[in-house]
Amino acid sequence: MMVYNTWYVAAWSSEVGETPLGRVFLNEPVVLYRDTQGQVVALRDQCPHRKLPLSLGRVTGDCLECGYHGMTFDRSGGCVRIPGQPRIPPGAKVRSFPTHESMGMVWVWMGDRERADPARCFYLDAYDDPTRTVSVGKHVMVACNYQLLTDNLTDPAHVAFVHRSTLGSPAQEDIPVKVDSEGDCVIVSRWTPDSPPAPIFKTLAGMSGHVDRWQYYYLHCPSICIVDFGSCAVGAIQPGERRDSDHAVQMYSCIFMTPETDSTTHYFYWQSRNFGHGDEAMSAKILEQIEIVFDEDFVILEAQQKSMDRFAMTDDVHLTIDAAPTLQRRIVKRLRAEESVSAPPMKTVP
Ligand code: FES
Ligand SMILES: [Fe+2]
Repeated sequence: MMVYNTWYVAAWSSEVGETPLGRVFLNEPVVLYRDTQGQVVALRDQCPHRKLPLSLGRVTGDCLECGYHGMTFDRSGGCVRIPGQPRIPPGAKVRSFPTHESMGMVWVWMGDRERADPARCFYLDAYDDPTRTVSVGKHVMVACNYQLLTDNLTDPAHVAFVHRSTLGSPAQEDIPVKVDSEGDCVIVSRWTPDSPPAPIFKTLAGMSGHVDRWQYYYLHCPSICIVDFGSCAVGAIQPGERRDSDHAVQMYSCIFMTPETDSTTHYFYWQSRNFGHGDEAMSAKILEQIEIVFDEDFVILEAQQKSMDRFAMTDDVHLTIDAAPTLQRRIVKRLRAEESVSAPPMKTVP
């Protein structure tokens, strides 16, 4: 189930320039480029003439010219030129989508245009905090529905099994998780007191002995996940106290998912940390480790999607650990029900 009236990450800011960039969001083809003012333009990536993706054309000034017969569209999607004919027919236009830039990313709004308010776009101030260090990860295409990813990202119970060598430890297997919600955000948390540090902190922050560890998963529905995880000396911070302080080694792992189709998802990620400030080698090491962790998840989720696509399914068996996935699906269902946007029409053969 897709939600339309929300800001989705479309690309890294650095990816969008004068060369058109074609992507698919929520089953809609979209082309992105920058106009002469540096503003990002997003248009439906299909020429209304013979359906060539406009991303195969070229940017001319503020406009985009189709690579087949040269129809040219302005930033609002209106046709401003048809080579060889002065009359512009009324249907000669493409849909345009509102865009916004923040935290090094281009965001696109696929829903009702009049509800697109950049001030309501998700923002995490840790990105711009000069005392912290950001390591920018990758844009990965994952071959599964975005809700399998959001299920996974609000499910600390899988960590001890899927990430045994990177994040998990047997000490965590039986530690209960707490599930809360605030508005459209699902919060899943777990404290693991007095236990060995996560392998990633052992290597990178030189932690040894026993520590208190935490994982807080904030899923801003439908598909932005901020994982706050870290460690501190045993008893140094109590649950409910500030965790991004000097008394802790703490990281936000930020994941922005944009549905591409019903079974594929754009996955953008970066981290912000409060240790190893400005240490590029450490950033590279963190990204390397995080990539291993995410790849461990993708193997599971893509196999899960394939299994669901190929074989008949029995009803899911519900476990106590499913509280967060159930809650977020309820929120997504409500968000979708509140919308008036209809899903794009299915492809028809001419
Ligand atoms: S297909 Fe675009 S102008 Fe003909
Ligand atoms: Fe995971």
